[in-house]
Amino acid sequence: MQNSQATTAEKRTSLHGFWSSRMAFILAVTGSAVGLGNIWKFPYIAGENGGGAFVIVYLFCVVLIGMPVMMSEILIGRRGRRNPVATMALLGQEEGGSRNWQWVGGMGVIAGILILSYYSVIAGWTLAYVFKSASGVFSGASADEIGAHFSAFVGNWKLVAFSHTLFMGLTIFVVARGVERGLEQAVRFMVPALIVLMLVLLGYSLTSGHFGEGVAFLFMPDFSKLTWDSVLIALGHAFFTLSIGMGAIMAYGAYLPEDTSINGTSVAVVTADTVIAILAALVIFPIVFEFGLNPADGPGLVFDTLPVAFGQMTGGAFFSTIFFVLLAFAAWTSAIGLMEPAVAWYVENFHRTRAEAAIVIGVLIWLLGIGSVLSFNVLSDFTFYRGTIFDNVDYLTSNIMLPLGGVFITVFAGWVMCRNSTAEELGGTGTAYMLWRILARFVAPVGIMFVFLKAVGLLDWLM
Ligand code: PFF
Repeated sequence: MQNSQATTAEKRTSLHGFWSSRMAFILAVTGSAVGLGNIWKFPYIAGENGGGAFVIVYLFCVVLIGMPVMMSEILIGRRGRRNPVATMALLGQEEGGSRNWQWVGGMGVIAGILILSYYSVIAGWTLAYVFKSASGVFSGASADEIGAHFSAFVGNWKLVAFSHTLFMGLTIFVVARGVERGLEQAVRFMVPALIVLMLVLLGYSLTSGHFGEGVAFLFMPDFSKLTWDSVLIALGHAFFTLSIGMGAIMAYGAYLPEDTSINGTSVAVVTADTVIAILAALVIFPIVFEFGLNPADGPGLVFDTLPVAFGQMTGGAFFSTIFFVLLAFAAWTSAIGLMEPAVAWYVENFHRTRAEAAIVIGVLIWLLGIGSVLSFNVLSDFTFYRGTIFDNVDYLTSNIMLPLGGVFITVFAGWVMCRNSTAEELGGTGTAYMLWRILARFVAPVGIMFVFLKAVGLLDWLM
């Protein structure tokens, strides 16, 4: 059985071409992982959930759950070599005798569409902030003025809708042209440049006199503040920030050459992603404390803090412009990943061009995004369950769909796929393989289900 499967896997070829090198793949996955999640979302949810304890739980989730899920996704993608829906159907049939696994791919396609619908709105804010920075409005402005500026901006639905439209247009454009060409170049330049600018900002925070307070907030855990709801948010964010649980990495894995190490790639990507998130938080919280801002400020946190720091630096308008350009780039390379499962599925299923797929799916996402555009202004009082439309789409995708996707993906790779298949993809049955297997079979699925049931209160109800 092993032989016949190995032969099918070897013969199977990607329908969309391959990454030009191992580095290209690492860059693409890093580009997808590093995005608004690291710089916009991580600091604000860490602030809302009390800091230290939340950050530690998040780090555990990244290593113990994020790593094995990412490795499982890449290996499934490479073995199937199709869009996530078709890959799960094919491997489900081959390894487990059921095509129903395709529904896991289907849920990923939907999750990607839903996430991008609001992601694009926030990415639009960063585009707007590029122009605002360049115009010099932040130079010398006080924290209050900058806060008022942000509120006025998001309160104007037309401006927010316009920037959302612009960002979706840019994303559709790249996705329509095919992923590799532009993307490789963009990421190769963007990730290092982003790190350099974060270090410049870190220099500011270090000298602000409130660095210690920021570090204490981030790393001194007070577990009494932690609720199961925040644990689920930390877990959901581990999925969101690593782009896992929805087939994006699976879709990228489908274009990965046979001889590239999945283990090494995953470690590199997870490390880069985590370092950037921590850096962002280390920059932001000292500024929060220096200007007496609220750590639990919510989605506006980055936009309320960084311009204050830039406004006080010499050459601040310049640095600020570059920073928001880079952040928009980071969002852009992530948005491409969010659309890829849906686009690959559309192309393969309906035998249409990438351009048509990008436009049809892009317009659908744009329309859905209007709900999030209005969540910050016209419909800000229209709240239910977790809050506004934006809050609910975010909660449903990050904290429910992605972790559930992760359970199915690890159960499939760890329990349904035969050992020979996974060992072949992960380069043998050494220590790394055994570690992956324990995490994928037990720790990840059980951990996710436990947190999940605890957070929604079902576990207590059952016991
Ligand atoms: N990982 C991205 C971020 O942190 O901004 C968000 C994301 C991109 C999630 C792509 C999922 C995805 F497929």
